[in-house]
Amino acid sequence: MLELKNICKTFNPGTINAKTALNELNLTLADGDFVTVIGGNGAGKSTMLNAIAGVFPVDEGSIVIDGQNVTRLSEHRRAALLGRVFQDPMMGTAPTMMIEENLALAARRGQKRGLKWGITPLERADYRELLRTLDLGLEDRLTSKVGLLSGGQRQALTLLMAALKQPKLLLLDEHTAALDPKTAAKVLELSEQIVQENHLTTLMITHNMKDAIAHGNRLIMMDAGRVVVDIAGEEKKKLTVPDLLALFSRASGSSEANDKLLLS
Ligand SMILES: Nc1ncnc2c1ncn2[C@@H]1O[C@H](COP(=O)(O)OP(=O)(O)OP(=O)(O)O)[C@@H](O)[C@H]1O
Ligand SMILES: [Mg+2]
Repeated sequence: MLELKNICKTFNPGTINAKTALNELNLTLADGDFVTVIGGNGAGKSTMLNAIAGVFPVDEGSIVIDGQNVTRLSEHRRAALLGRVFQDPMMGTAPTMMIEENLALAARRGQKRGLKWGITPLERADYRELLRTLDLGLEDRLTSKVGLLSGGQRQALTLLMAALKQPKLLLLDEHTAALDPKTAAKVLELSEQIVQENHLTTLMITHNMKDAIAHGNRLIMMDAGRVVVDIAGEEKKKLTVPDLLALFSRASGSSEANDKLLLS
């Protein structure tokens, strides 16, 4: 479903601020893979997701999504293939628009028909059912402005919207990091539910190693712009947090794993 081949990306090349964020990065995901991504600050995790989404062109390498080479495709053109949820709950939704308008926009992504003709009763009933699956009471607030929702409610809605058009890939970048622990757990549980129900191929960045172990069928660790650990299946199920710390120290040649991997 995804193939990253020898991806290199250096920001501000040739200047004193030059920073190689991705360094011959290789990663292949099978259809339905749910991969958790961990690594220290600056390891290149967000840059990898941004490269996949086409936020900037990469310097070298190729990106193939579901058999389509998208390396030179604009961010806009790739958007139809992807669902994204960011750390900031303010980013994924339009705050001055109603819940149902946000859903309708997500549903009409890539279509000519905008919101001009309004939302049909059938669509409205669909959205109500979808929102009911979140179990947050949002099904009774279709016409509430999204800006009035809590951070957790917004992230849950953003997840729904990201999954609505059956994206080839779902990209989650620390999407629960800004939420209180209880809400974070709830949103994570919803993520799991949405990924499973829609059979979505998913990359989920987290700084929480317990979450990285508990979710997904595969775990990768990044360091210095490449994948340094890749564990799947039964082996992943047996992982513990101390195992991960030891792996990180070995892979990055650093004894400061505890500092760099921000435990929670
Ligand atoms: N737009 C940019 N311009 C310049 N440098 C950048 C840019 N984006 C990222 N970088 C640099 O690239 C490196 C990798 O950053 P990235 O955001 O991918 O790290 P990360 O693994 O997501 O870290 P964190 O866990 O802190 O979110 C860092 O050194 C960062 O400063
Ligand atoms: Mg990041």
